[in-house]
Amino acid sequence: MNAQPSNEPDRHRYLFADSDVAARRLEFLAQVFAQSTKALLMDAGVGAPAHAVDLGCGPGYTTRFLAQTLGCQRVSGLDNSKAFISLARSSVHDGEGENPSFHLHDITKVPFPIGPANLLYCRFLITHLAEPEATISSWATQLQSNGYLLMEEAEWIDTSLSVFTDYLEMTEAILASQSNSLYPGGLLDNLKNTDCLKTRLSRVYRLSITNADAATMFYLNLQSLKDHPFIHANSAGTEIQRMEQDLLTLSRTTGGRSQIEWGMRQLVFQRI
Ligand SMILES: C[S@@+](CC[C@H](N)C(=O)[O-])C[C@H]1O[C@@H](n2cnc3c(N)ncnc32)[C@H](O)[C@@H]1O
Repeated sequence: MNAQPSNEPDRHRYLFADSDVAARRLEFLAQVFAQSTKALLMDAGVGAPAHAVDLGCGPGYTTRFLAQTLGCQRVSGLDNSKAFISLARSSVHDGEGENPSFHLHDITKVPFPIGPANLLYCRFLITHLAEPEATISSWATQLQSNGYLLMEEAEWIDTSLSVFTDYLEMTEAILASQSNSLYPGGLLDNLKNTDCLKTRLSRVYRLSITNADAATMFYLNLQSLKDHPFIHANSAGTEIQRMEQDLLTLSRTTGGRSQIEWGMRQLVFQRI
């Protein structure tokens, strides 16, 4: 995959570094996780929804993947990042009109500004929510009757490589300091059926990722994480520099060796 990180200094770092690096990481992540997302969309039994909505759409890679894989008539993306929504909108070509359409919106607030949906989808979003259970149950009100809610999140990441375990422990600690979880998959599996939402599928999809691809994603993420106040307070600069260098070296390896596997919790609810 063509997203080798560069260790050359970035002159625009203070102005654009976070959104630019985060967008590059999401583009790369979209390629790496396409296999697991495709399996969920194919196995969910949702047909071709008239209106699908991508919650926490970022720059729109998942939104387009939904449209292409399911053949939706209409697809909308919602995100609360101005930078990502503007990037997503800039990727819509002239001939595409309003499809896909992208909207700046905090998805913890209902109603959504795009009318009812036949399918709601999110990936790697629950990790960032302060009150996931309450937010997820509020989404049911935005679904048409018989509409579907599909979610996928990490339940575990299994690896024996110390540079990966060090990175994952650090990320887990940062998220815990904000009362968030790196592994919200278990929380999703514990969600109970409600009067209007019934579980149609709950499984863990196992995805092996090459060391080079995992290192690339982690390296790009580290560019944002290393400025987090938790890191300044709890980690030595030299420790982070070593992790960064080790990830960069690993990201440049070839041969496709994999010593890291994701367990992705995939859930399908249907509104009754
Ligand atoms: C890790 S990214 C995942 C993006 C995309 N779903 C994917 O898998 O490539 C999480 C996204 O959720 C968005 N997000 C987080 N909290 C949000 C909120 N309360 N409302 C809307 N978007 C949110 C972030 O801006 C970011 O684009």
